[in-house]
Amino acid sequence: MERSTIDVKDFNSDVFGLLNRWLLLTGGSVEEGECNPMTVSWGLFGMIWFKPVVMIAVRPQRYTLRLIEKYDTFTLCALPDEMKDVLNFCGTKSGADCNKVRECGLTPTASEKIAAPGLEEAELIMECRKLYHDEIKGKNFLDKRIIDECYPERDYHQVFIAEILRLEAIRKYKK
Ligand SMILES: Cc1cc2nc3c(=O)[nH]c(=O)nc-3n(C[C@H](O)[C@H](O)[C@H](O)COP(=O)(O)O)c2cc1C
Repeated sequence: MERSTIDVKDFNSDVFGLLNRWLLLTGGSVEEGECNPMTVSWGLFGMIWFKPVVMIAVRPQRYTLRLIEKYDTFTLCALPDEMKDVLNFCGTKSGADCNKVRECGLTPTASEKIAAPGLEEAELIMECRKLYHDEIKGKNFLDKRIIDECYPERDYHQVFIAEILRLEAIRKYKK
């Protein structure tokens, strides 16, 4: 995939569209030989603490949570539309039971600024470094209906706010 570095200021992204088309959250480390992609569609993009950031939400039962907790960094990748089957696979199968990279024929690539791998097949790779971690708490919901709607098992997400250190993408993501 022909990608180049994009300055965050030049990032031409409809973030709702990006999440609606689903992303792969990949935890691990190239050096340690660990890499597990998981499909995500919930998240936030924005600015805080003078930094461009993303917030991801990971449920406690995900294998990915172990990798996100273990390492300082992760990547978020957008795949081309024709790779929806990979997103379906990585959103239904767990790295605890199979090697998703191998099963999907994905190619982990070294990132420029972080230890976590990107994916060669991606049209957009975001290199992210964790800044803040917290847990969604039931008692803090002002609209309690969300608890039954989204957390019938009370398996509240672990949330991570991470700095977007580098963006690498194909032309269509540039203003
Ligand atoms: C479209 C879609 C979006 C998803 N978004 C999230 C998410 O934002 N957070 C989360 O914890 N799980 C999400 N999931 C579920 C995980 O991708 C799924 O449970 C996956 O198998 C976990 O893989 P792992 O055990 O290897 O981490 C999503 C699944 C799909 C299909």
